Amino acid sequence: MMKHIAFSTALSTAMFFGFSTAGLAADGPTPEAETQIIYAGTLIDVESGKALKDRVIVIEGGVITAIGSEATIDDIDLPDDAVLIDMSEMTILPGLSDSHVHLTSDATVHGYKRLTVSTPRAAITGVVNAKKTLMAGFTTVRNLGAPGFADVDLMNAINDGDIVGPNIIPAGRSIGITGGHCDNNLLPYEYKVTSGGVADGPWAVRAKVRENNKYGAKVIKFCGTGGVLSKGTKIGAQQFSFEEMKAIVEEAHLLGLKVAVHAHGAEGIETAIRAGVDSVEHSSLISDEGIRLAKKNGTYLSMDIYVSDYILSEGEAAGILEESLDKERTVGKAQRERFEAAAQAGVKIAFGSDAGVYPHGQNGRQFAYMVKWGLSPMEAIQASTIGNAELFGTSKTHGSIAVGKRADIIAVDEDPLDDVQALEDIDFVMKDGVIYKQD
Ligand code: ARG
Repeated sequence: MMKHIAFSTALSTAMFFGFSTAGLAADGPTPEAETQIIYAGTLIDVESGKALKDRVIVIEGGVITAIGSEATIDDIDLPDDAVLIDMSEMTILPGLSDSHVHLTSDATVHGYKRLTVSTPRAAITGVVNAKKTLMAGFTTVRNLGAPGFADVDLMNAINDGDIVGPNIIPAGRSIGITGGHCDNNLLPYEYKVTSGGVADGPWAVRAKVRENNKYGAKVIKFCGTGGVLSKGTKIGAQQFSFEEMKAIVEEAHLLGLKVAVHAHGAEGIETAIRAGVDSVEHSSLISDEGIRLAKKNGTYLSMDIYVSDYILSEGEAAGILEESLDKERTVGKAQRERFEAAAQAGVKIAFGSDAGVYPHGQNGRQFAYMVKWGLSPMEAIQASTIGNAELFGTSKTHGSIAVGKRADIIAVDEDPLDDVQALEDIDFVMKDGVIYKQD
């Protein structure tokens, strides 16, 4: 047993890890200490939806072991070499998460330019983007599609400690119909290019789910309608029949994997929800019936309502096809209006940005849009923390600052509940008790 040390004693004897004085080695995280104590000026408690003043958080071996006021923590045994992280002037909150990114994609390389990118090159891009994402305060991401399972390798490299990045829930190859949004339709017939996740028919799609699982996917992504950035697909057109969608969902759920569907058009969205998907990505043209169904079934809507600004301003230079820009001109605006309708209806909303289409590390820009289009700052933060964790099936270990959960904690010097744009510039990032950033 450790000897009892009153917190005030711990404060004076603990190794002081002051915010302004302590620095990081240029490219290395600070190793996780046995016991760390965070002194938080404000703690955003996403479980109660309240901002709590003057909280003390005790972290041992990367796990949160106690939270309280200074007085309550006073009764806890703390070793005298505990590291104190003084954030009494800061607001701390759980590490953010993004339910929809493509780490191996470069936002300045779209359309035909992408044809020159090999899978190994994309993986290296992923290394750079994983670090940017973590430094932006996003400690967990779902990577919804990467050719050649590069995202599985990224996850493994991060978990092995070879590179720095967020927790990754990788989808591997996105599953889609021949000629659909998840296929590659850029080249004519004689080149015979087909994306790795293409399958047609209930048993063929089941086989793809099994293969994705075999090669390390932790979530299944499929395309249920046309898309903006694919050549020759119609936003409103459903892809896959109900039977095929049902087969994907059933097979994935048997294997313990959640299912995310890419869907913009109303019919595809409704069909996918009826087939039992866990989240609808984009949801741009969701009907009132779709909103009703999502609410009834507890389906999450993951609506990337920021990305349109990037596509319409930078997209052309990045190589986005003219037909895609054309689609975006109608989809982007409609999507924001439907987001507002969904938020008003009280549907479960995930935080999903589609970063990769736009630059990684700018994921947080979407918060201001979610607030502009109907959520309170607290609700937007909850979407990106406790909400996403429920969607990912990781709420036991992630999604809030609570005893027993992993110490994924970030801090900002302005209160994001006053101005949610504070989340565009994160000052402190800890993942699993390891400090990666301390401005
Ligand atoms: N990956 C998506 C697609 O190609 C991007 C959609 C972006 N536009 C939007 N308004 N969310 O369909």
